[in-house]
Amino acid sequence: MVVCSGVALRLCRDKVWKITIHLRQGYGGQASNAPFSDRNKVFQAFLKTFEFASIERVFRMEKKLKVGIIGCGARGRLAFGAMLKDREDCEICALHDTNIVRMREVQAFLGGNMYTDLDEMLEKENLDCAVITTPDAEHEACAVKVLNHGINILIDKPLAVSAQGCQNVIDAMNKSGKIAMMGFNLRHHPVLKRMKEIIDQGTLGKVILIENREFYDAGRTYMARWNGKKSYSGGLWNHKGSHDFDIFNWYLGFPKPVKVSCFAGMNVFRPENIPFKLEKDIPVGPGCNCCYYAKNGICKDAHPEKDTKMWGEEAIKEDGYRKDSCMYMSDLSAHDNGFAIVEYENGARVCHMECFVCGFSDRIYTIVGDRAIAQVSLHNRTIRITDRWTKENFTYEVPMTDGGHGGADPLLLDNFIRTVKGEVENLSTLEQGKLSTSIAEAAELSRERGETIKF
Ligand SMILES: NC(=O)c1ccc[n+]([C@@H]2O[C@H](COP(=O)([O-])OP(=O)(O)OC[C@H]3O[C@@H](n4cnc5c(N)ncnc54)[C@H](O)[C@@H]3O)[C@@H](O)[C@H]2O)c1
Repeated sequence: MVVCSGVALRLCRDKVWKITIHLRQGYGGQASNAPFSDRNKVFQAFLKTFEFASIERVFRMEKKLKVGIIGCGARGRLAFGAMLKDREDCEICALHDTNIVRMREVQAFLGGNMYTDLDEMLEKENLDCAVITTPDAEHEACAVKVLNHGINILIDKPLAVSAQGCQNVIDAMNKSGKIAMMGFNLRHHPVLKRMKEIIDQGTLGKVILIENREFYDAGRTYMARWNGKKSYSGGLWNHKGSHDFDIFNWYLGFPKPVKVSCFAGMNVFRPENIPFKLEKDIPVGPGCNCCYYAKNGICKDAHPEKDTKMWGEEAIKEDGYRKDSCMYMSDLSAHDNGFAIVEYENGARVCHMECFVCGFSDRIYTIVGDRAIAQVSLHNRTIRITDRWTKENFTYEVPMTDGGHGGADPLLLDNFIRTVKGEVENLSTLEQGKLSTSIAEAAELSRERGETIKF
């Protein structure tokens, strides 16, 4: 490090010298033949003019961050992988996945050395940071290992599948002193960010009630693979709802939750609800790619997986993981609709609805303050504020931005990279990740026990 700094400083001195020559020549100066000792004088003057911190920033900017991707599936490849590949300040050095077939495909697109063993990757690669995009239940073990190796980390939501699991990652982070950030991309969604600014400006007054209804036209995404199984995701209140509980917590300023109550269930995706007539001796599934009813247009929910390299039979042979399992016949332990209600110690109340049986996708928020009410639609990218006393309405239309999840994904990644470089503050901490998982865990417990859970 010391040697590097010496070389870097010499390079910088010469760069400054060249800039100075140009400047002086521009003013009619004769600097090009000046003796070497003069260069040092100029450099010393430069150091006096600019803070050392800004020079350090120049060096940090020039060094590419070495990144590893842990979990080379949809998010690992299409979201973080593709974005990292496009960034000039990052280099994808290593990939880890337990499925070698899938990882090979991803490597052909992203590059980097492949490892089926995480410990080996962490030993051999000199990484600056890692992004964890495995199924939720693997986050804890992977994150603890990465942090124990002294590597900065971005963990896609949720932090873990239990509050205790979250705490274990927090302990590892505190021991390592490294940066660890939650992948709460909704925090970076331009509409929700704008809403947060409006709340912080005091336009709504004191927020007392928030309701969010999430309609998700992607039952298939969740019910046809690991997400619908509690052992992999901690349940959908954690897997999906951790986003939403985090937004509530963020808008309210992270008060302590005191009570959680939940009603939820699986009404539709059950074997007895298959929405077509079965033919004698022709079974359903197991995946749409090989299902008679899906292939012949009889099943309206059919969604054959098109990327047969990453998700086809060869990859399935490795670990049995199918992305297109029959939603009706799968062994699911999640809900396909439900409500979770939280009460906080400051008296605020929130209600989150999740519905995976519908023909469109949107998150529709109603945020009630003691001065005004806000109605938000992520799909329409609108925020409508109605003043309680004047009845005046203001509508904000938030422009579309590039990138996944309504433009949120690139902003999340940028926030992480810039936090690692020391340029900005960590916007979503592991403690906040634990808070949302704790609420989700309580919601699952409330659903199971049929009672309100007190914190
Ligand atoms: N923030 C968001 O909006 C958002 C959206 C979707 C998914 N996610 C999260 O991203 C994560 C990944 O989801 P996905 O949809 O990409 O899943 P996926 O199934 O497409 O990919 C997961 C990958 O992890 C691999 N894997 C499984 N166990 C592993 C282990 N122990 N070590 C290394 N690799 C392992 C699998 O082989 C697969 O390639 C999940 O935590 C999910 O909750 C976040």
